[in-house]
Formats: sequence, structure tokens, C-alpha cells
Amino acid sequence: MTDHSVVDLRSDTVTRPSPAMRQAMANAEVGDSQYGEDPTVNRLQDRVAEMLGKEAAVWFNSGTQSNQAALMTLTRPGDEAIISREAHAAWHEAGGSALNAGVQMVEVGDRGRFTAAEMVAAIKPSNLPVFPRTTLVEVENTHNRMGGIVLPQAEIEEICATARDHGMNTFLDGARLWNASAATGMDLAEMAAPFDLVTVAFSKGLGAPGGSMMAGPRELVEQADRYRRILGGAMRQIGILAAAALYGLDHNLDRLPEDHANARTLGETLAQSDKVILDLTSVQSNMVVFRLTDAAPPTDAIIDAARAQGVLIGALGPRLMRAVTHLDAPANGCVHAGEVLLAAIED
Ligand SMILES: Cc1ncc(COP(=O)(O)O)c(C=O)c1O
Repeated sequence: MTDHSVVDLRSDTVTRPSPAMRQAMANAEVGDSQYGEDPTVNRLQDRVAEMLGKEAAVWFNSGTQSNQAALMTLTRPGDEAIISREAHAAWHEAGGSALNAGVQMVEVGDRGRFTAAEMVAAIKPSNLPVFPRTTLVEVENTHNRMGGIVLPQAEIEEICATARDHGMNTFLDGARLWNASAATGMDLAEMAAPFDLVTVAFSKGLGAPGGSMMAGPRELVEQADRYRRILGGAMRQIGILAAAALYGLDHNLDRLPEDHANARTLGETLAQSDKVILDLTSVQSNMVVFRLTDAAPPTDAIIDAARAQGVLIGALGPRLMRAVTHLDAPANGCVHAGEVLLAAIED
């Protein structure tokens, strides 16, 4: 059972399926998904493809698995992919991009954003066989390690158009594209339009226990489906999880602005401390990533002090902390968390 006295801000992945979501899972019609016969998975795939304005979509078990399959689909071993600083695929996928796709990654730009010019400057020349082929640009929106920032769409469109001019493929890690859309009011399909392939996650703000989806042209999605099989990700009566994702789309998508408002309140509280370095303009969705000055207690001491008060928070680095809001962290819990963290930092 959920312990409602604890406010767990370590990630938006910590949410537990609600009784109603569990009921939807229990009632799900299922079939063998590898034979294309799970009606609930098929319904979810059609719905997400339509939401993202793409021809087809395919279920994956996790965001990492869908990201890896996208890299395998859009590159060849030995290629190079251009990504933003501290992108998930380079920092949080256990080196899988090198192992599974055989690509090397080049981080460009600053604080999760980069320009088309910065991308072009990083493209290796193609005139000599010594250079890797730069065949992919990957964008992460919202950007996790940079505090859930939303990337400007005009910048994204220029990056993708320029990439195409250079014969490169384009991929959007949109694990939290729902949040980017909620933050900007922009249509999901419009945000996905510049990209060949897009991935989205159900296990974060939407509150489902697992699952991600990749969307794009049918031909590419079919190729990715083979890589899904290679990665051991093709499953059977997975409609019970797809039902949770459908429930999340129906019931938890429209409430994401609440998470964003809670993150802002939390950020404003933390920014009161001289021992916190936090640019409030970076609080754009459901995350607050902040740095501690040398005057603050050690990060572990803050984590322990907060835990003792029923507030859980994580660190991204020695003096870098991250709080993530979600549907199991209500507004009053987030206000409480802000007070507890402020007191622990000021201690
Ligand atoms: C931007 C981004 N992409 C991909 C993932 C991977 O998702 P999963 O944990 O389902 O593998 C995450 C997880 O937090 C993420 O933040």
C-alpha cells in the first residue's frame, strides 16, 4: 500500500497504480501481442500513433528499450549520434548505446539545449574514411538531467531540418513529451512532427507501472519491432499493461499542469535559501534540479534529514539535487517537502 505520509520526490516513476487503474488492468482484453493479437495493445498503439501524428506505433517495455531500438533503427554500428548535454541515452542507459547500437555519442550545446549551428559544427567530415559517419541527431524533450526544461520548438525544427539537409536521421526521446505539451499548450503531434522516430513513456507522469511506445513511419516502426525482439522486449498478453497506459491517458494526462504548479511552488521555496543555486526559469515542468553551495550541508545529510521527516529526494551529482513532482505527491505534500528541504539545507 502507498504510505501517504511519505512524499517521494525521487522520480515521477515511483507512482503506484491506483485501484481504478488496477481495475482497468484486471478487465483488459488480451491476446498474444507478438502475433499482433492483443486488442488492448493494438488500441493503445493506434491511439498513440494518432496522438503523435505518426503512421504507426509499437509497444516497448521501457523507455530505455525503446530508445535503444530507435538508435539501432536509425544508425549503423560505428556511426556517431549528436545529442544534448547529459542526455538520457548517454548518461542513464548503462552504456547500452555503445553495446546495442554500436554508436558513439557526441554531446553538444549547453544545459540540454543546442542550436543547429552547434550540431553542424559537430558533424564529422565525410571526405576521409577515418571519420565516423554522423548519421543521427537525438533531442530529449523535456530534458531530464537539466531539470525538465522544455526545448523551444523553433530550435527543434531548425535542428531537424538542418540534420535532414546533412543526410542525418532524427530522433526524439519524448519520455516526458506529455509534460512538454502540458507546459507549452502545444499539440503533441506538432512537437513530434520534425522527427523520424519518437518515443514516449507511460510509467512517468501518466502513472502506469511500465511501458513506452515508439512512433513513426510504418516501415521504420516495423524495423524497430525486429530490434525489440532482439532486445528481448517482444511480449505476449501485455494488454494488462497497455490497459494501465490507456487509463493514464484517459485520467492522468490532463492533470499534469498540477505537477508543474507543485514543482514551481517547491522551486520558489528552495530558491529562498542563499545555499541553493536555482534558476527558477529552469523550472518549466515537473522537476526542480538545484545545486548546493559549499555553505550547505553535505548532500547525503540533506537526503537523510529529509527522509527522517518523510520526504524523499535524490541527488544527480555530489552537490546537485533533483525533486520530481507527480500524481502521488499532492500539493500540500509538496509544500511540506519544500519546508522540510529548506530547513535541512539551512541547518
Ligand atoms: C528522458 C528519459 N528517457 C528515457 C527514460 C527511460 O525510461 P525507463 O526508465 O522506462 O527505461 C527516462 C527515465 O527516466 C528518461 O527520463
